[in-house]
Amino acid sequence: MDLKGMIREVQDFPKEGISFKDITTILSDKDALRYVIDQMADQLEDMDIDVIVGPEARGFIVGTPVAYKLGKAFVPIRKPGKLPAETVKYEYELEYGTDALEIHKDAIKPGMKVAILDDLLATGGTVLAAAKLIEGLGGTVVSLNFLIELSFLKGRETLKDYNVKTLVSYD
Ligand code: PRP
Repeated sequence: MDLKGMIREVQDFPKEGISFKDITTILSDKDALRYVIDQMADQLEDMDIDVIVGPEARGFIVGTPVAYKLGKAFVPIRKPGKLPAETVKYEYELEYGTDALEIHKDAIKPGMKVAILDDLLATGGTVLAAAKLIEGLGGTVVSLNFLIELSFLKGRETLKDYNVKTLVSYD
């Protein structure tokens, strides 16, 4: 399937000069949606994984159906203040300022093997923060899987210590 042809590119969103990769055109096509979830699940099928983790918000969209398909559980990582029970937080640097993500403290047990799924790898900052949260709770990150990679942002360098897989890459 021509996934790239199905991803809508919206120029100057959310800021001038950015060509936004809009996956809603994949989600709204039943065959493309199934194909993407099946492909991401295939990449993980032979791996020893206990749980799938996905960062808010689009990590939920790809992470949960892949977890369902593989017969695994799903754990969300959210922006601060959204998760109700006891959380741990990881703060990370942006170009201007900082951002933070949280996970429920009891969601990852020591020794758990985790795959993190998200729609898009840009700088890698989001998923690196997610990996640090998981490792801080004693989990091991065995795979990072994305639908789209913006390779010119060199996220793979940020994530060089991990096993990274993507379906579509933009140079
Ligand atoms: C986007 C995307 C990834 C992240 C990638 O999420 O869904 O999670 O950015 O960027 P990075 O590799 O530079 O960290 P966004 O922060 O826009 O949040 P959303 O999914 O809630 O809209």
